[in-house]
Parts: sequence; structure tokens; C-alpha cells
Amino acid sequence: MEDSLPVNVREYQKLAKKALPKMHYDYINGGADDEYTLRENIAAYGRILLRPRVLIDVSKIDMSTSLLGYNMPSPIIVAPTGAHKLANPEGEVATARAAAACNTIMVLSFSSSCRIEEVASSCDAIRFYQLYMCKRRDVSAALVQRAESLGFKALVLTVDRPVLGRREADIRNKMISPRFVNLEGLMSLDKDIDSAEGGSKLERFSRETLDPSLSWKDVEWLKSITSLPILLKGIITAEDARKAVEAGVSGVILSNHGGRQLDYAPATISALEEVVKAVEGSVPVLVDGGIRRGTDVLKALALGAKAVMVGRPVLYGLAARGEAGARHVIEMLNKELELAMALCGCRSVAEVTRAHVQTEGDGI
Ligand code: FNR
Repeated sequence: MEDSLPVNVREYQKLAKKALPKMHYDYINGGADDEYTLRENIAAYGRILLRPRVLIDVSKIDMSTSLLGYNMPSPIIVAPTGAHKLANPEGEVATARAAAACNTIMVLSFSSSCRIEEVASSCDAIRFYQLYMCKRRDVSAALVQRAESLGFKALVLTVDRPVLGRREADIRNKMISPRFVNLEGLMSLDKDIDSAEGGSKLERFSRETLDPSLSWKDVEWLKSITSLPILLKGIITAEDARKAVEAGVSGVILSNHGGRQLDYAPATISALEEVVKAVEGSVPVLVDGGIRRGTDVLKALALGAKAVMVGRPVLYGLAARGEAGARHVIEMLNKELELAMALCGCRSVAEVTRAHVQTEGDGI
């Protein structure tokens, strides 16, 4: 049985494609417009090489790290992705259990297809809650309150989706809006949209519920209604990273939404050093997008990331083999990171340095 298990993320992707209806696979896998950014997120990792150091005793590798004071066995955490029931009927509950089994953090999406309460009670884990700002602030405030009272440890405000990116596969497939189970205040709208004709219903739902007027003032507002730490997800420039620090957030997540929003935004790994430099160590910088290998994680750490988030790989695992698949994907990435660290002569995350990578800009 073990022999037939996929041995890497790409094999899980192939299984996911076989397992899912085309509409669902395309929704998970796709990106915006020409999908340049989607491809580049992955391709840019391929242009960074590793500079291993040898003759270092690597019989013990310690991948542990901490984020906002929480200890984790490795710097790999689960990115917020919507509608896990499209991948597996158990949805986010299965993903949460997989993350908990790996003692890692799961960021639960605003667009979760399981109720927040159900996910919170399904297992013991450190969870962050991801928020999109709704046009109706009372709906956002109610979600924040629920997340707080259910023991979520931080809020992740996604800021790169004031409007929905144009995902052509979803438009072609007439992608149906997954049920927005946590948005009681908007349920009647959900019904109207489900019965609407044509186009991507997801796009229509987003247009009605998300707030394109989202601005730095709303970060202030969010701070005023919660005592939880806030991370901003979707920052990709030094300018905005500096503003985020000024706004008093607890962390910056460098992300281009997995290439699903603005096409021709740079690969996240290409923007990492700029953003890390801008925050000057004042808050942790996380990065996501295109991570498919443990060596990718090592590259991100070397360029200054405190931790990384993985989106699609976990969904591939979930689609292919449910909770066990999602768990296996996280475990595989952890094992790959451990191996890459050993082969680079890094015994701990702290020992991974800029000198372990060679980028195009280094001119070597
Ligand atoms: C996402 N992403 C996302 N981000 C977010 O803040 N809230 C969300 O609800 C979602 N939903 C979502 C659905 C699907 C199917 C995907 C693939 C992505 C973006 C996600 O958090 C993350 O930024 C990317 O997935 C990272 O890129 P990789 O790891 O998928 O390459």
C-alpha cells in the first residue's frame, strides 16, 4: 500500500485532477488571465540555486520555529483556501485534522465550506482566521467575534482581493458559488445568486459581498474591534510592507493569491528580499505561492521568510486521499525540507542564511 502512495506534490496534483470534476479542479488549479503569475510563482523557485555547505554534522536537524509566540515543528503552515468540500466531502474539517496531526497552523478561509464552529470543535490545533472585508461591516465584525470566541489565535486580513481577479476557467465552466456557510447575514443574497443565470456565480457573489473600498482605514477599524494579532495577506511591495508596519500589524504575508488575482504581479519569491528589507525585522514576513518542494521552503527561509504557507498542495492531497492525503502532503514537504537542510549543512532554521542561495541578481 505504502508503495503506491504519491511521492511528491506533483503526483498528488495528477491524482487530484483525475479525482475531481473538471469544474472543481479548474477552480482549485487556475489563475487569473494569462496565468503568468501562477506559472511564475513556481518557475521563479527554479531559478534560485542552493549553495550547500559540507562537513557539518547533520545527524540532528531541528526544523522547529515559532510564529507570534506559538511553537511549530516546522515553518510550513496551511494557507487559507476556500470551499474544501469541492475537493472532499469532509471539507475543512478534514484539512484541520490533517494540520493538527502535523502540529501545524491552519489558516481557515472566510470562504470555508464548513461552519467555523464545526472546524473549531473538530480537533485541537492552533488556528488563524482569514477575513475578507464585507461591504456590511457588521457581518465582518460578527465573524471576527465568532473566531475570537472559538479560540482562533490571529486574524489574517486578505488585502489583495478588493475585487475578484478574472479567472477564465471559472467563467468558461460557469463555476457555481460554493455555499458561504458562515455568512448568515448574507444568505438571502446567496440564494438569489444561485438562481441567477450565466457567468461565474463565484464572481457575482464576490462582487456583491466584497468591499472594493477597502483601505488602510479598515485595518485601523479591524484593530479597534479585536484584541487578536492581525496579519495582512497580499502585500508584495516594500512600500506597502512599510505601511503595514506603520499600521501596527503583527505580520506581513507576502502573497499574490497564488496567481489568482492580479496577473503579471511578480512571483512572490522574487519580491521576498525587498519586503523583508522594508520591514527591518519589526514583524515576521511569511510567504506563499508556488511552494511545491522542501527545497522551495529552504529558499524562502534563506531569503528572509519566517514561515511559508502552502495552498494548492494541501488541496491536491485532500482531493486525492481526503484527510490522509492532506496530512501526507504536509508530512512530505516537512521531510523534504529536513533533507534539504541536511544536504545544505543547516542544522536549524536559524542556520539557514542568505549565503545558502544563489539568485539571478547575485550575478554569479
Ligand atoms: C486561495 N487563496 C485564498 N486566499 C485567501 O486569503 N482566502 C481564500 O479564501 C482563498 N481561497 C483560495 C482558493 C483556492 C482554490 C486557491 C488555490 C487559493 C490563496 C491562498 O491563500 C494562497 O495565497 C495561494 O494558494 C498560495 O499559492 P499556492 O500554494 O496555491 O501556489
